[in-house]
Amino acid sequence: SKIGNGYAHAKIILMGEHAVVYDYPAIALPFSAVQVHVQVKASQHSTSHIDCQYYAGPIDEAPSMLANLNRAISLTLDSFKILSQPIQITINSNIPQERGMGSSAAVSVAIVRAICDYYDIDISDKQLQLIVNQAEVIAHESTSGLDTLMTSSNNPVIYRKSQTPRPFELALDAYLVVADSGQAGQTKLAVSHVGQLKDRKPELVKELMSAIGNFVQQAYDAISEKDVQKLGRLMTYNHYYLNQLGISNPTLDHIINAAWLGGALGAKLTGGGLGGCVIALASDENSAIEIAQVMQDAGAINSWYFRLS
Ligand code: MEV
Repeated sequence: SKIGNGYAHAKIILMGEHAVVYDYPAIALPFSAVQVHVQVKASQHSTSHIDCQYYAGPIDEAPSMLANLNRAISLTLDSFKILSQPIQITINSNIPQERGMGSSAAVSVAIVRAICDYYDIDISDKQLQLIVNQAEVIAHESTSGLDTLMTSSNNPVIYRKSQTPRPFELALDAYLVVADSGQAGQTKLAVSHVGQLKDRKPELVKELMSAIGNFVQQAYDAISEKDVQKLGRLMTYNHYYLNQLGISNPTLDHIINAAWLGGALGAKLTGGGLGGCVIALASDENSAIEIAQVMQDAGAINSWYFRLS
């Protein structure tokens, strides 16, 4: 019998998280070391079922933490006027949850793709992103749309909410180390924290955001000039400003400090913050291995590294 398949990967924000919510630029890249695969087939029950790490059972009775997935499913069925027979949706993901890697958007992307594959629907990237963003609003309220874009596409982008994303080539003689702090990141909380700070101290937040926007623009130039030292410095500045926005914490700062001391060209938190992942820029593979080790010694529970090419 027929099976529909859908895939998505994680994402890493190199620079510009949070400011991107307020229409400043961010640079992000696909991160395919961790992935989600979804299969859709005919249900053996009289209702549609979903099966994932947290829940297996009827979709209609799924816990509220899966509300965004539920939304993505019903939006897909509605958009394409599919009179659905009961389906079985099986999710296999090794993207760490709540680590700023875009896991919730990635799962929605893979589900929408799998449903479309199952029903032989040719969905455009634009339609896919529209559906996933609508579903993501449930998980994150104000989302820049960056997670949806990055988990569904294969190219690094420089992104502004109000503009068409610009894919670009990120080919550097350098390595990026990604380390998981083991603490659940809290994107929704962090985004609302920044929003509250903005209400209280609009001038300060504006200044911080526009500085971050400037760093991102300079980082983009540094990448085209292949100046990895400069890119590293800008990442570190970016972290300092994220810290001023109040979305780092002692655990992240400790791991980031270890990376700096371990020879990183730069290091910062990535994604929503208040937990989640940190990234570090390394000049070569040996340095990447060394930095990953010192970050783990400082408390990170897992790490990856890859060449920026
Ligand atoms: C989360 O990965 C990135 C944030 O900028 C939120 C968003 O862009 O929606 C914090």
